[in-house]
Amino acid sequence: MTDLMLRKSIDEIVAEDDGEHKLTKSLNWLSIMAMGIGAIIGAGIFVLTGTAAANYAGPGIVLSFILGGVACAFVGLCYAELASLIPVSGSAYTYTYATLGELFAWIIGWDLILEYAMGAATVSVGWSGYMVSLLADVGIYIPPQFANATGTAVKLADGTMATGIFNVPAAIIVLLLTFLLARGTHESARLNTIMVAVKLAVVLAFIVIGAAYVDTSHWKPFIPENKGAFGEFGWSGVLRGAAVVFYAYIGFDAVSTTAQEAVKPQRDMPIGILGSLAICTLLYILVAGVLTGIVPYADLNVPDPIAKGVDAIGLGWFSTVIKFGALAGLTTVMLVLLYGQTRIFFTMSKDGLIPPMFSKVHPTYGTPYVSQIMIGSIVALIAGVLPISILGEMVSIGTLFAFILVCGAVIYLRRSDGNIRRPFRVPGVPVVPILGILFCLTLMAGLPLDTWLRLVIWMVIGFVVYFGYGRRRSIAQRHAGTA
Ligand code: ALA
Repeated sequence: MTDLMLRKSIDEIVAEDDGEHKLTKSLNWLSIMAMGIGAIIGAGIFVLTGTAAANYAGPGIVLSFILGGVACAFVGLCYAELASLIPVSGSAYTYTYATLGELFAWIIGWDLILEYAMGAATVSVGWSGYMVSLLADVGIYIPPQFANATGTAVKLADGTMATGIFNVPAAIIVLLLTFLLARGTHESARLNTIMVAVKLAVVLAFIVIGAAYVDTSHWKPFIPENKGAFGEFGWSGVLRGAAVVFYAYIGFDAVSTTAQEAVKPQRDMPIGILGSLAICTLLYILVAGVLTGIVPYADLNVPDPIAKGVDAIGLGWFSTVIKFGALAGLTTVMLVLLYGQTRIFFTMSKDGLIPPMFSKVHPTYGTPYVSQIMIGSIVALIAGVLPISILGEMVSIGTLFAFILVCGAVIYLRRSDGNIRRPFRVPGVPVVPILGILFCLTLMAGLPLDTWLRLVIWMVIGFVVYFGYGRRRSIAQRHAGTA
């Protein structure tokens, strides 16, 4: 009989991780925080803010960001406890294996594909939007059919309508980054640091320069009246806006995958996770406020809303700078997500839940190159055919679901392994994790029914794969003599 609740002990997980790949402990809290910011600020703020303000929340998008930030703060505390308690790679997947057992670990690993792989696809579509806009500035025109999702309606230069065929720039950037990552993480890490600095500078410049041009009449009404349907403005619109821009916060959890490389995980993890989250929340609220203050919200449903905001105040040169910054920023997020996906698959493959090729390491580059290339190719394909709205909502619902399990894991572990030393303790357990769960559920409730259905279908496919493959091949089940 297979034991679906089979757990791995925390000691076992840490020992396995130590034995397999000893990583240098070189990251301090500052570099971890920088990495967090690199992973967090991306398509959420550069693209989805515009979509969500124009379609759901109006200037109330500022409140949506606050709501999303509060939800993430509760979850971030839980991540910090688990990351300092189980300082190994694999993120939420590993935590779940240690707490709720193999079946739940599989569910979360499968679900995390939505966050990481689908997340990378979403960001690449945002990247494509900014790239097309930047190229247009220098007179290079990319036919919209080749820069939009398959089947979407696009407007041509002469004003006629056409149908999107494939988002070529989105697919190209994913393939390029895949190549870089497969070659080794050293170069990617250097590139990452430079781009994080560029992105932060651009976001700060937008806030400072934009603030001078805010016309407060654009903020009135702050929460536009509901148009009759749930989620179309009004308070339900703020909620739906929060569910959509929640995407902007995703990435703080990716910080937890670096736990093993932290100098003092006990101190560096909580500061890194919560610090990057706090800085991003503040920046988001300010960007959203300034953006809706300089452009009427209804005009923001474009692929490059921040640049559009700058155009509106007549600073053409700054708009070009913003586009460069956005491209750099989006690139760092894609790097972290594509990299994170292979890390999770690596661990799942070592556990036997997915095929061994996902943990095959290149003899020279030391990277899981087969996995990286496979993931990159599939992500590129998805990025080429699906629009950002569908992708973003899938990523949000998948991540929220994962966060709920992480909060649950904290409560569970306090009971099951109450005596283990916890370098960082979430205050007020179980209230804080329960609040985390409730906030995540609330945000999930703000997402459209279609997105829920897609999540259910995705999970059903996951069960088929698990019962058809993972359960039979699981190393833990074999050791326990249950497979
Ligand atoms: N938070 C990341 C972004 O906004 C995923 O692009």
